[in-house]
Amino acid sequence: MGILQALLVALFIAAIAFDQSFVDASISKSMYVNWGAQHTAISGDDLQLVLDQTSGSGAQSKRAFLFGSLEMLIKLVPGNSAGTVTAYYLSSSTMNIRDEIDFEFLGNISGQPYIIHTNIYIHGIGSKEQQFHPWFDPTADFHNYTIHWNPTEVVWYVDSLPIRVFRNYENEGIAYPNKQGMRVYTSLWNADNWATRGGLVKIDWNSAPFIARLHNFRARACKWNGPVSISQCAFKTPANWWTSPTYSQLGYAKMGQMKWVRDHYMIYDYCRDTTKTLNGQMPPECFKPQF
Ligand SMILES: *[C@@H]1O[C@H](CO)[C@@H](O)[C@H](O)[C@H]1NC(C)=O
Ligand SMILES: *[C@@H]1O[C@H](CO)[C@@H](O)[C@H](O)[C@H]1NC(C)=O
Repeated sequence: MGILQALLVALFIAAIAFDQSFVDASISKSMYVNWGAQHTAISGDDLQLVLDQTSGSGAQSKRAFLFGSLEMLIKLVPGNSAGTVTAYYLSSSTMNIRDEIDFEFLGNISGQPYIIHTNIYIHGIGSKEQQFHPWFDPTADFHNYTIHWNPTEVVWYVDSLPIRVFRNYENEGIAYPNKQGMRVYTSLWNADNWATRGGLVKIDWNSAPFIARLHNFRARACKWNGPVSISQCAFKTPANWWTSPTYSQLGYAKMGQMKWVRDHYMIYDYCRDTTKTLNGQMPPECFKPQF
């Protein structure tokens, strides 16, 4: 191929890459309220979710993404938040075959710890919960909850500490979310039938309105433009930074941080829940390294 053709090909690839690798900054530009608009507010880069006896509330991103980092700073409902759940998650919203990657924050009575609940659904199959107590007071300040998702792994980060990894073992027959774009959702609702101590502690409406604050949404991610994105967003180019080898596996320092969190703050792991096993069999990914 001549120099001119090579240059044109390079320009073409650069154009594609430029077009799809995307930074969505500011909540007001990239999200809209989809539930409870009468008492919920977006302004600039701030979103306030409210739950009272009339309604919960929620917002979602305008765009869908396939791979990248979806970052949000969240200050959870303070005081007596028992029975409330604040969620920050990605979902393809494709009914029975949905992919979903979840952070859910289960409230508690004053002074008792929240639960950071994580889950992943692939083609409609979920029940892969892992839960943690936070190592800080998540209501005193904003903390950084980031979902990093690339062709080889999904990483849940809390203040840049990895707390969980779900690796791609598709070549061994284990499903992985890489063929459906997902939007970003957040919501605050009444889940007092299950959230706090398994549903034992109910919402105290005297403490309403419950308010969670969100700030600094950053989607450094690949725009989903339909099925063509399945290969485009996974294509190894510098513009698709999430495909760089740096992100294909946690480095030793990050692995050490994750071990620290899991050794000290993990309170539930579906891979160790013998009451939920399928015919006595753990899900296959439970036998694989996850980091
Ligand atoms: C949030 O955490 C992610 C993942 O570690 C990191 O890339 C990002 O810079 C952090 N954002 C802020 C505002 O600290
Ligand atoms: C609430 O506090 C109890 C008692 O400390 C604890 O067992 C539980 O994990 C906490 N969180 C939730 C959401 O129930």
